[in-house]
Amino acid sequence: MDNHSSDRPIAVFDSGMGGISVLRELVAIMPNEDYIYYGDSAHAPYGTKKLEEVRELTCAHAKRLFDEGAKGLVVACNTATSAAVRVLREQYPNIPIVGIEPAVKPAAQCKKHPRVLVMATPMTIREEKFKKLMQRYEKEAEIIPLPCPGLMDFVERGDLDGEDLRKYLVELLFAYQHEQVDAVVLGCTHYPFVKPMIQRTLGEHVMVFDGGAGTAREMKRRLREADLLTGRTTRGQVEFRNSLEKPEKIALCKRLFEL
Ligand code: DGL
Repeated sequence: MDNHSSDRPIAVFDSGMGGISVLRELVAIMPNEDYIYYGDSAHAPYGTKKLEEVRELTCAHAKRLFDEGAKGLVVACNTATSAAVRVLREQYPNIPIVGIEPAVKPAAQCKKHPRVLVMATPMTIREEKFKKLMQRYEKEAEIIPLPCPGLMDFVERGDLDGEDLRKYLVELLFAYQHEQVDAVVLGCTHYPFVKPMIQRTLGEHVMVFDGGAGTAREMKRRLREADLLTGRTTRGQVEFRNSLEKPEKIALCKRLFEL
């Protein structure tokens, strides 16, 4: 890369709108960086697709973002991370690439032997990466994986507190209401946008965890290590792009970013 590679943008990728929950954390701790946020809403949801398809899509988008000069990539999607992050790191060993995984660790350690519900896409829960993560903490906590097909679609539509969402959550979480779990992990980057509804459905006593802030810290650490943090002292730009190329999608990106 050239002498000004530290001033190039950080790419943030997700299957749609969800990664904006991670983008917010990135901007909070690295406000002077430039960002390109790319959401692949045209192919969303990823979580109910085949692994190979998600890997191909993720690698193709990553390649384009690197070709355009991104200095690093945050795979702000748990599903795409489990399908493609290992391959991406092999393909681009010299570029900081950070993925996100369900925040099981802090949830498993929130009290003595808690019951932890992990909400994520069917693919995230099915994949090897998650099985290993569960095994690592199974002595410390009772971990209950819960695939949530369809939940991300509410966020893609911008429905964060409607009646249909309320009904969906009541049905999905029925068995875990009334003191049944101590903590819940939002293992899909779309879910932090419906956190108030999930909290209301499960009860105020339930602790809610997501991996966004930890992922942002990890990216900052990796950029610092590679001497790629910008030296600029003024606020950077955020550019939103979406494979659907519809103005409504970009408007929704901005709305979610500013929440
Ligand atoms: N936001 C994505 C995640 O973190 C997945 C949503 C989807 O495309 O199914 O897993």
